Amino acid sequence: MKTEVKILHKFMITKKLIKYLSLSSLLAIFISSCSPHHEQSTFTNAGPVAQAQSELFYLMFWIAGIIFVLVQGALIFALLNFRRKEHPIPGSDFKLPDIPPKQVHGNTKLEILWTVIPALILVAIAVPTVQTIYSTYEPPEGSDPLEIVAMGHQWWWEFRYPDEGIVTANELRVPTDRPVKVTLQSQDVIHSFWIPQVAGKKDTVPGNTNQMWFQVDEPGNYSGQCAEFCGVAHARMRFRVIAEEEADFNVWLNAMKTPPKSTASEGYGLFLAHCSMCHSIDSYMDESYEKEITVQDERWADWFHNQEESVRVSAPNLTHLGIRTMLAAGQKDMTRENLIDWIKNPSDIKQGTRMQSVATVYKGGEANLKEHEVEAIADYLLSQTPDGWGSVSAATESLEEAEVMVWNTPEEHGEYLFGNQGCSGCHSLNEDEVIVGPSMYGLIDRSDSRVEGLSAEEYVYQSIVYPNEYIVDGYAANVMPQIFINLDEEELNALVSYLKTIK
Ligand code: CUA
Repeated sequence: MKTEVKILHKFMITKKLIKYLSLSSLLAIFISSCSPHHEQSTFTNAGPVAQAQSELFYLMFWIAGIIFVLVQGALIFALLNFRRKEHPIPGSDFKLPDIPPKQVHGNTKLEILWTVIPALILVAIAVPTVQTIYSTYEPPEGSDPLEIVAMGHQWWWEFRYPDEGIVTANELRVPTDRPVKVTLQSQDVIHSFWIPQVAGKKDTVPGNTNQMWFQVDEPGNYSGQCAEFCGVAHARMRFRVIAEEEADFNVWLNAMKTPPKSTASEGYGLFLAHCSMCHSIDSYMDESYEKEITVQDERWADWFHNQEESVRVSAPNLTHLGIRTMLAAGQKDMTRENLIDWIKNPSDIKQGTRMQSVATVYKGGEANLKEHEVEAIADYLLSQTPDGWGSVSAATESLEEAEVMVWNTPEEHGEYLFGNQGCSGCHSLNEDEVIVGPSMYGLIDRSDSRVEGLSAEEYVYQSIVYPNEYIVDGYAANVMPQIFINLDEEELNALVSYLKTIK
C-alpha cells in the first residue's frame, strides 16, 4: 500500500513537472514570437506604411491595456473589500451574517456614463483607424509610385511590372524611398499578401481586385508570407522583397529586358521538352508580357478544367532564374545542389507542389531523367542571367562545344536540333503517338493542303516559327513555346529538311 502511494505521488509530481515545463516552453515560444529581431516581426518597421500600422496597433494596445487594468483593478478591489464577511459575537459560537449593502436599481447618471465613455473610446479608435485604412490604400498624392501586380497562385507569387513589361515570381524587387502601388489579384483561391516589416496583410481574392501600397526605407531583403490559409502548401508560400537604391533597381529593370548570354545547351533542349509547357523563360523579349499573362491564364484554365489529364498548370516564370536568391517560393536558397534536388523530386522539398503531378516527366514519381540530364537542366537554368550580369555560365561551354559540331547533311543537322531544341519532348516520330503535340509522322504529306498559298515546306517552317498561326484540330494554341524564331535560317531549314524524312 505504501509503495503504491509513493508511486502515485511520484507520478503526480512528474505530471506536474511536465505541465509546468510545457507551460513554460509555450510561454517561451509566445514571448520569443514578439522579438523585434525576427525577420517576420511586425515590431520592426521598415517603411511608412508599416509605421502607420504600428502606430495604430500601439494606440489600440495602450487604450485596451489601460481599460484592462482599470476594469480588473476595480474588480479586484471590489472582490477584496466587499466580500461577504461574518461577524463573530463575542463570548459565543455564533456569527452574525454580513448586512447586505444598499441595493440599487437603475442609476441614470451611471448608465449615461458607461454608455458615453465606451462610445468616446470607440470614436478615439475609429478615427485613426479609418484614416490609416485610407492612407495605406493609395500612395501619397504627388508621389510617383512603381506599379506592380501581386498575383496569388497555389502556392507561389507572381509579380508583374505592367509599366515595365516584366514578369517574375517569388522575388519582388523594388526601389527604396519610392512608393510601390500593389494591385492584388488571385487566380485560384484567396491568399493574403503580407510583408510583416513593411506592410500588409491584404487579401488577394479571385475575381476581385484589391489595392495597397508600401515603401521601403532601407535597402535589404524583407521576408514575405501568404497570410491566408489557401491549401496544403499555404505555409510554404513565401516570397522575398529585395529593396535596392533606385540606381541599382534600374540596373535590374534593364537586365530583366536583356537576353541571357546564351541559350543553347543540352539543358536548354531538356528544359524545352520537359519544363517549358508551364514555365516561361524568355520574358526579356518584346511583347512577352502580354503573352505571358495570356499563357498563364490558359495554363490555369487547362488544369482547372481537366485536373486528371492536363499536362500544364500555371507556374512561376523562370526568366533569368540565375539571379534569383531562393527556390520554390522561399523553401531553399538558390544553389546548384538545391536546384538539382528540386528538379529531381520537388514534392520532397515542397509538399503540395503541382509540378510532380502535372509534368509528364514525373508521372507521379521522381523525375524520369538521368543524373546528368537533371544537372544539365539545373546548369541551364542557373546560366539564365542577363548578358553582362557578370557570371560565367555553364551553358557557354556547351555552346562552344555545339559550335564545333559538323553535320554532313541538313537532315542530320535537323535531327540533332529536333533533340537538342526539345522538339522530341512533345512530338513523337511514331504514327499516331501523341506525347503533347501532334506526331511528326507523315507530317510533310498532310502539310501541303493545310494553308492555302503555302507549300508543305513553308507550312512546316511557319508552324515552327509561329506555332499559333495554324492550330491542328484537337490541339490548343499557345502550348508550343514561341521561341524558335530565335533559331537562324539555316537551323530552321535543317529542321524542315529533317521533318520531311519522317514517314
Ligand atoms: Cu496562399 Cu496561403
